[in-house]
Parts: sequence; C-alpha cells; structure tokens
Amino acid sequence: MDISQLRREYNSGSFTEKNADESPFKQFEKWLEDAEETGFLDPNAVAVSTVDKTGMPTSRIVLLKSFDIKGFVFYSNYESTKGIDLNENPKACMLFFWDKLERQIRIQGSVERLTPEESDKYFQTRSFTSKIGAWASKQSRKLSSRYKLLREVAGYIAKYPIKVPLPPHWGGYRLTPEYFEFWQGRESRLHDRIVYEKSDNDKWTISRIYP
Ligand SMILES: Cc1cc2nc3c(=O)[nH]c(=O)nc-3n(C[C@H](O)[C@H](O)[C@H](O)COP(=O)(O)O)c2cc1C
Repeated sequence: MDISQLRREYNSGSFTEKNADESPFKQFEKWLEDAEETGFLDPNAVAVSTVDKTGMPTSRIVLLKSFDIKGFVFYSNYESTKGIDLNENPKACMLFFWDKLERQIRIQGSVERLTPEESDKYFQTRSFTSKIGAWASKQSRKLSSRYKLLREVAGYIAKYPIKVPLPPHWGGYRLTPEYFEFWQGRESRLHDRIVYEKSDNDKWTISRIYP
C-alpha cells in the first residue's frame, strides 16, 4: 500500500480574523455544532495528550462531555495512565479533528479534577452497565484475561444491584484553556490558522500564524 500518494486539496471553507468570534468558547461551539450537523458519529471525540514525569507524551481519545468558559470537561479513571500523568503534570492538550470539515482545533491548558459532587451528578446519568464498568475496570493496568474482567463485573452487579455509587477512582477532569488554535484547510496548503491567547487581564488576543 503506497500511502505517500494519499493526498487531497483542502478547499471547503475559509476562516479569517473577521469571521472569528471574539470569544474562543463561542467559536468552539460554532465549529462543534457544524461537526454535529455534518453527521460525525462522535463529533465530541477529542484526543487528549498528557506528559509523564520523564517527558514522555501519551495521547488518547475521550468524549468531551461539557464545556463553558470555565473549561472543557471529560470523565475518566483517576488511576489510569492519564490520571497518573495528570497527577505529576496537570497540563494537557486537546485536539479535535473533523475531516469532512477540514478543521482541527488545538486547546492547551491546565487540568483539575471536578469535585466528587460534580462527578456524581454526571455519573448518575450513565447507564447501569457503564456505572458498573467504572467500578470493575482498573483502567490501563495489566489484565490476565477478559474472563477476569467479566467476573469482576458480575461481582459489582451483585454488590450494587440497583444504585451504583460513584467510584472513588473515577470522575471528571476540567481543562482550563490558555491557548486555542483553529485550523481551516485551504487550497495549496495555505491553511488558515487563527490563534487565541489569554492575556494577563483575562482578555483573549487573536492572531494569525503561518500555515
Ligand atoms: C471514541 C472513543 C471515546 C472514548 N471515550 C473515553 C472517555 O470518555 N473516557 C475515558 O477514560 N476513555 C475513553 N476512551 C478510551 C481511551 O481512548 C483510553 O483507551 C482510556 O481512557 C485509557 O487511556 P490511558 O491509558 O491513556 O489513561 C475512548 C476511546 C474512544 C476511541
């Protein structure tokens, strides 16, 4: 398979300083709505990169579950690889990519945990099996067989047949952004890249960077 010849022109849109909303959050919302309307299966899927104490980065997809001017929220296991990285280094980069729209968004910032009350509010909206799964999965640790996992699932169903409490090792993370970059593919690789940076007075300054 020769992937060196896999390429195409990007020419479905443009993104200029004039079109850019003065709030990066509003701009994000517009693009996320566009992605939803375009029919992506998981328009809220986002790659989150963290860095461990040796400087080694790790990326993985999670589902963005909410956002507002305080930040971008996703849920996970606090003892997973990302959880360990975020304990050591509470910063992350999020990357959205919507191929049919020829757009990506990069968001960098610091990350903190939601309160257990906030996490529980979301946790209780999940399906019974997802709640049980959050108890049973020691996410990112070695597992000797799938059978072991299924036995542990059965054990938690027996323990919590009706009301499943929030596991202490599970909850939300909020990334508070300091930097946004909106990328729109353009013809001849002369893409639009519009950056929002937070200045000291909490205002966002908008600039363009070379493609
Ligand atoms: C579409 C998609 C959505 C996912 N959503 C989540 C999520 O919301 N939370 C989560 O912890 N893992 C989610 N995962 C699994 C992660 O990519 C990853 O495997 C897991 O969180 C363990 O990552 P870690 O070992 O780097 O901590 C998702 C994976 C995919 C492909």
